[in-house]
Amino acid sequence: MNFSEKLKKYQEQIERRLLTDLPSSSERPIRLHEAMNYSLGVGGKRLRPVLVLAAYDLFPGELDPMHAALAVEMIHTYSLIHDDLPAMDNSDLRRGSPSCHRAYDEATAILAGDALIPGAFELLAHGYAKCPELGMKLVAVLANASGSKKLVGGQMEDLLAEGKSPDSDTLTFVHANKTAAMIEASLVMGFLMGAKGNEPDRLELVSKAGQSLGLAFQAVDDLLDVTSTTEKLGKNAAHDDEANKMTWVNMVGLEQARGLAKEHTDGALKSMETVGGDNQFLLDLFEYMLCRDY
Ligand code: IPE
Ligand code: IPE
Ligand code: MG
Ligand code: MG
Ligand code: MG
Repeated sequence: MNFSEKLKKYQEQIERRLLTDLPSSSERPIRLHEAMNYSLGVGGKRLRPVLVLAAYDLFPGELDPMHAALAVEMIHTYSLIHDDLPAMDNSDLRRGSPSCHRAYDEATAILAGDALIPGAFELLAHGYAKCPELGMKLVAVLANASGSKKLVGGQMEDLLAEGKSPDSDTLTFVHANKTAAMIEASLVMGFLMGAKGNEPDRLELVSKAGQSLGLAFQAVDDLLDVTSTTEKLGKNAAHDDEANKMTWVNMVGLEQARGLAKEHTDGALKSMETVGGDNQFLLDLFEYMLCRDY
């Protein structure tokens, strides 16, 4: 199977399990479950759950990594729903459709995001009940990555930085936490479930690869905001400038921002090469994430 076939296969597996493993829209309160499934179901690249599955496949074990993959996608989707709210980025378009608060209303979007968070941890608790030690590790990794010092902390500083003149310390903090932490956690969770999950040296490299990949990912997200179109992105282009966001593009310009994304990707590739195992798909994925156009 070549890279794009394998990527498609992972994505299809994820789409299928999103339909079967989450509360259905026919459950009460219908409006809430509809809104959760709307935001989860309207598309998205599914890169984080793919990272979980592919990191597991480095050294496959005896577990079903999909519970963790879905948990990560649920936290990510909640973060997008809240990111789009008028009080935050005020974005009307997400994943090619009206954002959750536009399709429903603000209160429903807040609650749909809220409900996805415990939903993610419930998946981990039930999915790995037979191996409680691993289950607790996965809970700890995901809770840490999505908590006040990482994802939420990064979002806080992203908002506080609006309109300020850019500085690399703030930008690095924001990117490392609002974005890279969840990307790192995706790789780490996948690896922990695999056959070599208890090897600390490899774990360290996986985590390093995730941090670099995450920094590259947000640099590319900021670049695409400037260079791509709303149709392609499925979210409003040129939004960062309008909202006075602090980005590498407005600090160092397009060329240097591209260089930075490439540098971080090279770092991620180097760490992942050293991890070994069945790493070819992940190496290809890292390159793909750098060159993506949406
Ligand atoms: C968007 O993430 C939010 C960022 C961290 C930049 P993605 O670009 O992975 O969004 P989806 O999941 O494909 O919609
Ligand atoms: C958001 O970053 C990262 C999250 C944790 C949701 P952005 O605000 O740049 O993401 P987009 O561009 O709206 O997807
Ligand atoms: Mg934002
Ligand atoms: Mg945003
Ligand atoms: Mg963005």
